[in-house]
Amino acid sequence: FKKLKDEFLSSVPSTEEIKEAASFDVNKDESTVSITVVGASGDLAKKKIFPALFALYYEGCLPEHFTIFGYARSKMTDAELRNMVSKTLTCRIDKRENCDEKMDQFLKRCFYHSGQYGSQENFAELDKKLKEHEGARVSNRLFYLSIPPNIFIEAVKCASSSASSGIGWTRVIVEKPFGRDSDSSAALTKALKQYLDEDQIFRIDHYLGKELVENLSVLRFSNLIFEPLWSRQYIRNVQLIFSEDFGTEGRGGYFDNYGIIRDIMQNHLLQILALFAMETPVSLDAEDIRNEKVKVLRSMRPLQLEDVVVGQYKNHTKGGVTYPAYTDDNTVPKGSLTPTFAAAALFIDNARWDGVPFLMKAGKALHNKSAEIRVQFRHVPGNLYNRNFGTDLDRATNELVIRVQPDEAIYLKINNKVPGLGMRLDRSNLHLHYAARYSKEIPDAYERLLLDAIEGERRLFIRSDELDAAWALFTPVLKELEEKKIIPEYYPYGSRGPVGAHYLAARYKVRWG
Ligand code: NDP
Ligand code: BG6
Repeated sequence: FKKLKDEFLSSVPSTEEIKEAASFDVNKDESTVSITVVGASGDLAKKKIFPALFALYYEGCLPEHFTIFGYARSKMTDAELRNMVSKTLTCRIDKRENCDEKMDQFLKRCFYHSGQYGSQENFAELDKKLKEHEGARVSNRLFYLSIPPNIFIEAVKCASSSASSGIGWTRVIVEKPFGRDSDSSAALTKALKQYLDEDQIFRIDHYLGKELVENLSVLRFSNLIFEPLWSRQYIRNVQLIFSEDFGTEGRGGYFDNYGIIRDIMQNHLLQILALFAMETPVSLDAEDIRNEKVKVLRSMRPLQLEDVVVGQYKNHTKGGVTYPAYTDDNTVPKGSLTPTFAAAALFIDNARWDGVPFLMKAGKALHNKSAEIRVQFRHVPGNLYNRNFGTDLDRATNELVIRVQPDEAIYLKINNKVPGLGMRLDRSNLHLHYAARYSKEIPDAYERLLLDAIEGERRLFIRSDELDAAWALFTPVLKELEEKKIIPEYYPYGSRGPVGAHYLAARYKVRWG
């Protein structure tokens, strides 16, 4: 019996062995991730994707075994790609130690393969190179399509032929624009699904990766003071504002086919709106969140022409410098009516938001660069202190401002007594200023999104039914604007945009914040 007992005990794993087995991580030990940036010679790859990948590496967030391949038609050697990439890499300001060493280590993991986007043969060559790096490990492959939309499908077709074989995963990040309207978007989705399952497609909207957009749900659902006020009962209007202080410089060719409504409103601002207005999801699971976002989008009224103002920037001379008009760009057709500015009033026909205007404003070549969510609350009923504000009661209402960028902040405008013997009120801010409160640098949106795609987290990516619902809201008005050849209101480069935006807001008794 003792012999049997000893044999049995020696075959039972020790606590350490059990712990080791439990911590076995397939990502860490047995598998490898190959990231292929398709369109690696382009602007987005240089500006955002490679720097984000480096930042993830620097933070120790990439798996132990990974390889990055750039793929594009341009002829480049590995050394030339590394040289190009190295110019845009930066280290976290708060942790500069070993920066050069880390950059070298990172660049050694970057390679390049030149090929056509529609060539099976060229992708097969890439596949061969990927396999050499992957060795006998389980291969997981991520393709980032950083190319113009007209070549998405041919690239997906060829890239899917160099998908991971066996038990590894293959995922494809697709950059916007996802079509120009409902029909072209549906056609794109249908074509993508010939080669990929929906759960392999990661449609990126980089605004969902911005820190303060991610924080929206935390603000709403983990603070008792906000959620009870988050409805038509207390909120008068919500404003979603995007502005840039530069024009379409260098991207006029792309932009002219899309315009500001498709470039910013239908995706970035609408995604923020959906997160802002959705009901509490069942859980933080990606599908539960996306289900709630779809419900909000499907409860919205398609945008009406009378609820839209469009504008286009014209040239402007200031301090001896002449800033160009949109149509001065050589890649923009003369006489183009494409809007570089738009303001719109949208409505959600559900019990929570009935009658509350959601005003959007987006423009290029304006006086500043910023992205904000402004929530204007109703007047205090029977407010004893109304007289302090005379007839201008708007001045007395609370306003919550979420400054997405730059200089991230959340502040609440409240009425406050000016210290002193008299009784005078003013509006002061309860202010959370990120730079003052948090010393750690805020990661770029692309870092978060790339990491999520590697980890298979879909919460911040757009599902196809969300996309359909988003296009359904904007397609009719976009068609009408084009068919009726609506002339945009011209505004000087660097100004606050067309005055029409104020008339639109005034129609709904709103003043832009
Ligand atoms: P680019 O115009 O720089 O194109 C990327 C690469 O694609 C180019 O370097 C070029 O590489 C190849 N390419 C360009 N035009 C063609 C063409 N007509 N036919 C075949 N290949 C072509 O694009 P971006 O890097 O600016 O953007 C990539 C994607 O990301 C686009 O879908 C864009 O809409 C989207 N996007 C871009 C943003 C940005 O800030 N740049 C922001 C948000 C989204 P090669 O000639 O070497 O093959
Ligand atoms: C992109 C648009 O999606 O977002 C660009 O195509 C715009 O026109 C850009 O400039 C703005 O992004 P960010 O992160 O700089 O605000």
